[in-house]
Amino acid sequence: MEHTVYVTRPLPQPAIDLLKSECDVDMNPDDTAVAQPELVQKVKGKDGILCLLTDTIDEQVIEAADRAKVFANFAVGFDNVNVDAATSRGILVTNTPGVLTDTTAELAWALVFTAARRTAEADRFTREGRFVGWSPTLFLGQDITGKTLGVVGAGRIGTAFAEKSRGFQMKILYHDVEPNAAFEKRTGGTYVSLETLLEQSDVISLHVPLTPTTLHLIGEDELAKMKSTTILVNTSRGPVLDEQALAEALKTGQIAGAGLDVYEEEPKIYPALLTLDNVVLAPHIGSASVETRTKMAVMAAENLLAALRGEIPQNLVNPDALPKRR
Ligand code: DGY
Repeated sequence: MEHTVYVTRPLPQPAIDLLKSECDVDMNPDDTAVAQPELVQKVKGKDGILCLLTDTIDEQVIEAADRAKVFANFAVGFDNVNVDAATSRGILVTNTPGVLTDTTAELAWALVFTAARRTAEADRFTREGRFVGWSPTLFLGQDITGKTLGVVGAGRIGTAFAEKSRGFQMKILYHDVEPNAAFEKRTGGTYVSLETLLEQSDVISLHVPLTPTTLHLIGEDELAKMKSTTILVNTSRGPVLDEQALAEALKTGQIAGAGLDVYEEEPKIYPALLTLDNVVLAPHIGSASVETRTKMAVMAAENLLAALRGEIPQNLVNPDALPKRR
């Protein structure tokens, strides 16, 4: 076939079948991230690369990808790709927005309830044989219905997350770089400063992309503004939240609980968090449903094939690369 592509990790079969219908496919057979030196070797001579958020597509990898027309990322977030380095070489970068919106919003709610009603902790307790009878004080948590919800980041996932609170009759506050009329129309939410949101919300959920301005958006000062009953959830990117400051806030009772799906240095977890019962820890599974992972894989494959055909991929994140595309 005319083109050869590299797939950095096994993907749902429909995506592989799609790629094979137009290309020769070289796929890492192991369900672990390819080591960086191997990645640098593997991208050489490939026309397209289908990569994951666990791959660091840095300047060295991009430089080595001497024939690449596209890096098709299997994720909505693309902070793992040095987009500027790709753009300057005329290499397209694509992502997978939209298809994982509800799935990720659902996981955020799962974490809210797990943290608020302490169900992970209660599960451990029950399995350990420690349930010896009903008690009026056993595992008291936080109610959700009628409380104030604070959504940080009013994009697709933040909006879906806020919309799903409808049955819980919550007052919705949100913050973003600017007010978002679509968010307000769909959720009835009110735009407030980050400070007001932190001070007034009972549940806070983070839905911002990782950029230099959102790095440690929530740190010691921000946690200090929250109520002692607040539940904080992060399904966006780990470095948006200062894990050391969070561990301290959970330890001292500055906030009541937290739910995390993402970490500052995945897969490492800040050790103090592992010792705390008032944080629930998920292994970055925001988009992990059978249906959604298949849709993401097919979307990434479609983006890649469109780029190889010389078309403009549906989910291009760097249109500035088009004038010099390879
Ligand atoms: C994404 O797509 O960015 C998620 O973090 C993984 O599904």
